Amino acid sequence: MTKDIETKCLHLTEEEERDNFHSTFGSVSFPIFQTAAYVHPGIRDDYVPGQDHISLSAGYNYSRESNPTRTQLEKFVAQLEGGAGALAFSSGMAAITLLFELFEPGDQVIVDVDLYGGSVRFFNEIARRHGIRFISADFTKEDVAALMTPETKAIYFETPTNPMARVSDIAKLAALTRRNGSLCIVDNTYLSPYFQNPLALGADVVIHSGTKFLAGHHDVIAGFLVASDPTLVERLRFLSTTTGSALAPFDSWLVLRGIKTLSLRMERSQENAFKIVEWLQSQSHVKYVFFPGLPNSPGYAVMKRQARGFGSMVSFEVESKELAIATLTRVKTIFFAESLGGTETLLTYPIAQTHASVSAEGLRASGLNDRILRLSVGIESARDLIADLDQALNG
Ligand SMILES: Cc1ncc(COP(=O)(O)O)c(C=O)c1O
Repeated sequence: MTKDIETKCLHLTEEEERDNFHSTFGSVSFPIFQTAAYVHPGIRDDYVPGQDHISLSAGYNYSRESNPTRTQLEKFVAQLEGGAGALAFSSGMAAITLLFELFEPGDQVIVDVDLYGGSVRFFNEIARRHGIRFISADFTKEDVAALMTPETKAIYFETPTNPMARVSDIAKLAALTRRNGSLCIVDNTYLSPYFQNPLALGADVVIHSGTKFLAGHHDVIAGFLVASDPTLVERLRFLSTTTGSALAPFDSWLVLRGIKTLSLRMERSQENAFKIVEWLQSQSHVKYVFFPGLPNSPGYAVMKRQARGFGSMVSFEVESKELAIATLTRVKTIFFAESLGGTETLLTYPIAQTHASVSAEGLRASGLNDRILRLSVGIESARDLIADLDQALNG
């Protein structure tokens, strides 16, 4: 019987649960296997020199390669995204960096104009130096198919985007990559697998900054890659084992614990976001609210089709740069801090923080300006959050 997503945040399939280490002692919480190495009971009879593993083991040899707590977490993330497998990394950026090891000099990747600034920095400052060519396009408007060449190995986008909440049509874009034999890569950080599953819409790879909604408590940095093709999962695992940026056991456990309440947190923070959006729209100093849950927002129809919710990320434009900066310094219950997706509500100034390394041309293309603030709405009382915003904006 297929389980609902709320249950999938807490339970794996019966077979996987039965095979688990914790079933030995019946511990309800999965243990932290804080070990670098694993004892081998002997040598395989069929050992061939030069072969990777000579040992008879319980399936684990060395924690750079695999660790039971991390494996448990990867099973949960794969299950939530509906992938053939998932890999956990020490950050979202480590996951993205590893993914680009798939490409060769001369390969071309088409990327959307509005992306997390750290991803843009990685593309421009590092991946480009390794010979990967990037073409930037507005995936919500431009004809991406017209930009594809035989060298195009992937398209890469977020939906909704950070911070402008632009929405791209995953199924439509995935159909283009299938025709061209390239990969459709979607950063699903903003909605989490609770609200959106790009692989089910035809994408090949899903990225998460696990730091955000998956972990959910602003207490750990983590990242994920999830792929639909088992061969691709194996290739990524080889690259991860070889390069060594996998998530540590304790951090894996923190994300596992965070996922247990993913459904509750996503629902509650979304509920708060809707209340805050309504209030922001009534404010004279607020010129525009970027939230894909507004029926008159450009991405609304696509969101309704491809996601189960709208999330809790709200950007808004105030009347001046001075007011934007004053609001940041005046918030009290809300923290002026640079992350998203956790229990506490955070207010961020994207142009100077998350998107500080985006060029003027990139900013023009995405529409981000110095009057835009980004709220990651948490699970506090909406009334308290609105009261805090009121004193900060109108103060
Ligand atoms: C959409 C998105 N993708 C990727 C990242 C990078 O993740 P991390 O900070 O965990 O390295 C972030 C970080 O803010 C993000 O917002």
